[in-house]
Amino acid sequence: MVMLKINGRDVEVDDPTMPLLWAIRDIAGLKGTKFGCGISQCGACTVHVDGSAVRSCITEVGTLEGKEVTTIEGLSEDGDHPLQVAWCDQNVPQCGYCQAGQIMQAADLLSRKPSPTDADIDDAMRGNICRCGTYKRIRAAIHQAADGGE
Ligand code: FES
Ligand code: FES
Repeated sequence: MVMLKINGRDVEVDDPTMPLLWAIRDIAGLKGTKFGCGISQCGACTVHVDGSAVRSCITEVGTLEGKEVTTIEGLSEDGDHPLQVAWCDQNVPQCGYCQAGQIMQAADLLSRKPSPTDADIDDAMRGNICRCGTYKRIRAAIHQAADGGE
C-alpha cells in the first residue's frame, strides 16, 4: 500500500506498481490529466512531483511516498495561475487534449527560468506534442506569463 499526496490530499493506492496517471484519474478522480501514448512520448500526462514535471504514465506510485504530486487542478486555486490566464488570453487550446500537460510543463520551465528565451521554450516544451499544432500560441502564452501576465 502506498499513501500519495495529490494536490494536498491523501490518496491510498494498493498496488505500488500502478502508474501515477491511473491513480490520479481513477482513484483520485481528477480527470484533467490525460492519457496520450502511455510510453513517455507525448507529454499529455505531465504533472509535478515536488515541483518538477514528470510523465505520470511511466511513474510508478511506489516511487512517490512522501512526495507532493500536483496536477492541473492543483496548480492554482481558481485557475488564475499566470500561465492559465495567458493561455486564455492567447486562445491557446484547439481541441484541448494536450493542454493540461503543456501548462504543467511550462510551469516547470518558469519555476526554473522566469524569463525564458524562444530557444529555452522550444527546448523545454519539445517533448509535449500537440496534434492541433498550437505551438506558436503556447510560446506566446509562456512569454506573456513570464512578463507578469501583460
Ligand atoms: S501519456 Fe504519458 S507521455 Fe504520453
Ligand atoms: S490542442 Fe489539440 S492536441 Fe493540443
